[in-house]
Amino acid sequence: MSEPLKVLVTGAAGQIAYSLVISIAKGDVFGADQPVHLVLLDIPPMKAVLDGVVMELMDCALPLLTEITPLVEEAPAFKDIDVACLVGAMPRKEGMERKDLLAANVKIFKSQGNSLEKYAKKTVKVVVVGNPANTNAFIAKKYAPSIPAENFSCLTRLDQNRGQAQIASRLGVPNKNVSNVIIWGNHSSTQFPDVSQAKVVTSAGVKSVREAVGDDDWLNNAFITTVQKRGAAVIAARKLSSAMSAAKATCDHLRDWFMGTKEGTFTSMGIVSDGSYGIPAGLVYSFPVTIAKDGSYKIVQDIPISDFARQKMDATKKELEEERDMACSVCEG
Ligand code: NAD
Ligand code: LMR
Repeated sequence: MSEPLKVLVTGAAGQIAYSLVISIAKGDVFGADQPVHLVLLDIPPMKAVLDGVVMELMDCALPLLTEITPLVEEAPAFKDIDVACLVGAMPRKEGMERKDLLAANVKIFKSQGNSLEKYAKKTVKVVVVGNPANTNAFIAKKYAPSIPAENFSCLTRLDQNRGQAQIASRLGVPNKNVSNVIIWGNHSSTQFPDVSQAKVVTSAGVKSVREAVGDDDWLNNAFITTVQKRGAAVIAARKLSSAMSAAKATCDHLRDWFMGTKEGTFTSMGIVSDGSYGIPAGLVYSFPVTIAKDGSYKIVQDIPISDFARQKMDATKKELEEERDMACSVCEG
C-alpha cells in the first residue's frame, strides 16, 4: 500500500461534503489501493456538525481511511495537503445568479489561496466547487503564485454530466454510451454545452450525437438552456442547491485528473487558460482536456468553431472577464 494521500475538503459540514467525503474515503476517487487521510475544514459555528460527520465516517469502518482531522482553522488544514476540494462557500437561493455570490464568497478564496501558498505541498491539486466556481479558482490561484497554474481547476463536470444525461435520455441509451459533450466557459447560465464532438454508441454502431438525435433545433436551443439552467431548476424544486450530483461530479473530476481520461474521450474542466481558442491567458475557463495517467492534461486543440459556437464562447468569456474584474476589486478593496 502507498502512503496516504492527504485530502482537504472545505465546507465539510455542508450538503455537498456529506456525499463527497464518503466517496473519497471508500476509494471511489483515488482507487481501491490508495489510503486517504481526510482533513475536514469548516467554520467555528459548525464545529458540532463537523464532529457528527467525523463520528459517521468513523462508524463506516472504512479500510482505506487512515485518519480523519476535523478543523475550524485554515492554517493547519492546508498543511502539506496533496488535494484540496474547496467546497465551502455560500450556495445561491432561488432567484439569484451564481455571480450574486461573488462579493460574499470571493474573500474566502483569497484567504484560502494565501493558505495554499503558505502551507500546502507545491504539487497540490485544487478543485474549486464553491460558487462562482471559475472566479473563485481564479482568485485562489492569484493568491498562491508559487503553485503552478495547471494545479488549479474548477468544477464544470456537473454540467458535462447533465448534458450527457440529457442526450442519453433523449436517445433512450445508457449514460455510458454518450461521450465527449463539451462545456465551454463559466459554470453559470452563460456556459456553452457543445455537442459538436459528442458521440453515442447505438445498436447501429458509433454515431455523432447530431446525427443520432436528428433534431438541430432541440440541440441548439432546448438542450443548451436545460443544461445552463439545471442548477436553478434543482434549487426551485429542492429549495436547496444540488448536492448529491455535485459531489458525484467532483469525484468524476478528481478521478479523471488522477487516473487519466480513456483513449478517444475527453472531459471538461475549468482551468487556467493558456490562450487557446482566443480565451485570454489566465482566465479560469472550462475547456475539453485529455488527461494522461500521470495527471498532466492537454487542452483538445483544433476543434472547428462555428459562428454559432464562437458567439456563445465569447459571451461566457465576457461574463468571466467581468467577474474577474469585480473579484479583483473586492479582494483589493
Ligand atoms: P452548504 O451551505 O450546505 O455548505 C457549505 C459549507 O461551507 C457550510 O457548512 C459552511 O459553514 C461552510 N463554509 C463557509 N465558509 C467557509 C470557510 N471559509 N471555510 C470552510 N468552510 C466554510 O452548501 P453546499 O450545498 O455544500 O454548497 C457549497 C458550494 O458549492 C456553494 O457555493 C454552491 O453554490 C456550490 N456548488 C457548486 C457546484 C458546481 O458544480 N461547481 C454545484 C453545486 C453547488
Ligand atoms: C449547480 O449547478 O447546481 C450549482 O452550481 C448550484 C447553483 O447555484 O446552481
